[in-house]
Amino acid sequence: MTKPKRKPDGYIGGNPLRPESLMMSYGYDPALSEGSVKTPIFQTSTFVFKNAEEGKAFFEMAYGLREAAPGEAMGLIYSRINNPDLEVLEDRLTVWEDAEACAAFGSGMAAITTMLLEFLKPGDVLLHSEPVYGGTDHFIKHVLPRFGITPVCFAAGATRAQVEAALDAGTGGKPLAMIFVETPANPTNAMVDIAMCAALAKARSAPGRPAIVAVDNTFLGPLWQAPLAHGADLVLYSATKFIGGHSDVIAGACLGSRALITRVKAMRTFLGTMAGPHTCWLLLRSLETLKLRMTSQMKNARYVADFLADHPKVQRVYYLGHLAAGSPEADLFARQCTAAGSMISFDVVGGQPEAFRLLDALKLVKLAVSLGGTESLAEHPASMTHADVTAEGKTRMGITPAMVRLSIGVEHPEDVIADLEQALAAV
Ligand SMILES: Cc1ncc(COP(=O)(O)O)c(C=O)c1O
Repeated sequence: MTKPKRKPDGYIGGNPLRPESLMMSYGYDPALSEGSVKTPIFQTSTFVFKNAEEGKAFFEMAYGLREAAPGEAMGLIYSRINNPDLEVLEDRLTVWEDAEACAAFGSGMAAITTMLLEFLKPGDVLLHSEPVYGGTDHFIKHVLPRFGITPVCFAAGATRAQVEAALDAGTGGKPLAMIFVETPANPTNAMVDIAMCAALAKARSAPGRPAIVAVDNTFLGPLWQAPLAHGADLVLYSATKFIGGHSDVIAGACLGSRALITRVKAMRTFLGTMAGPHTCWLLLRSLETLKLRMTSQMKNARYVADFLADHPKVQRVYYLGHLAAGSPEADLFARQCTAAGSMISFDVVGGQPEAFRLLDALKLVKLAVSLGGTESLAEHPASMTHADVTAEGKTRMGITPAMVRLSIGVEHPEDVIADLEQALAAV
């Protein structure tokens, strides 16, 4: 029998409860906190040991000096290593995609960089999709090479043959250490086939060192895409986005097998990139409404995307709900995703001046980077989130000067459309 992934409070009568049913309670015992219904904020840097032997035992387990004895449980030590808010949050995040373990971070970039630094070393080859979020792009292309790591990129949407050709050209056939993909990609919504990446990783690993497949699932997850179910080893989030959902917290997460997450957490301890108790508490509150928010945002986005697609001042709409039936993209979407989410990019007719006029005319939709919050946001990827990408890179990735990226919130969709209509009239 396989070991259950969940704690006992994740089941009724042996049947697993659905994620939205567990977001108010899972992994938290009120008896440990004066009966408080909600997890209190454990705003403390350190925890008192009952005696010196207990402190010694906790450190031995925390630093992997020995395995826990049967019936022995790891205790609380220091909030860079563990904290009740951090642990309850990590348990709840595992539920959405049936992951064995989770590590929560102080930002999405903290999750991504800590994970990359744990699994890569000098001489390694990292294969990654393009485009990826601008910060990730910078770290992969400008920081990792300083540590002797060679990044090789492929375009989101490429076939396996095209990806292998890029790999051969970039590395001369050297084995892979990791494949990192962002799908759908920020800001174009271009998709990468996760199962194809998992097969490629198997085929191109060094003997005895399986290449890790890591997926940034920020745009669709955890509701509309489950990368672990398609063969990914690790899933990453900017929890600042849909998981936080209110544009009031910066956070990140990494999920996967217990073995891999134990390694990620060890690196997190030494880099100090964990999420603090208040951040975790905010995310616990956010998780209670995650499904409600993401469902409402996803429904609203369809109305907005349909409106944009019909507008004469819109050149092109990049939206997963509009993929041409029968196209390879539509086929991949059907296999890999369960809904189109709420991110829409579009090119206005014209270029940057027209895009800026539109952005400056918006009234309800806020002109701000970030995404996934309850309020609708609009930004200009070429000059904002992806400003650091070279001009040649932007052309290659399809990030045009006319592109506007929208994150659709929970407002009434007709009001968002009315705002876009009057802003497009100003173009
Ligand atoms: C897809 C994606 N991944 C990662 C990040 C980085 O997350 P954070 O800003 O929480 O560090 C972002 C931020 O915009 C993002 O859009």
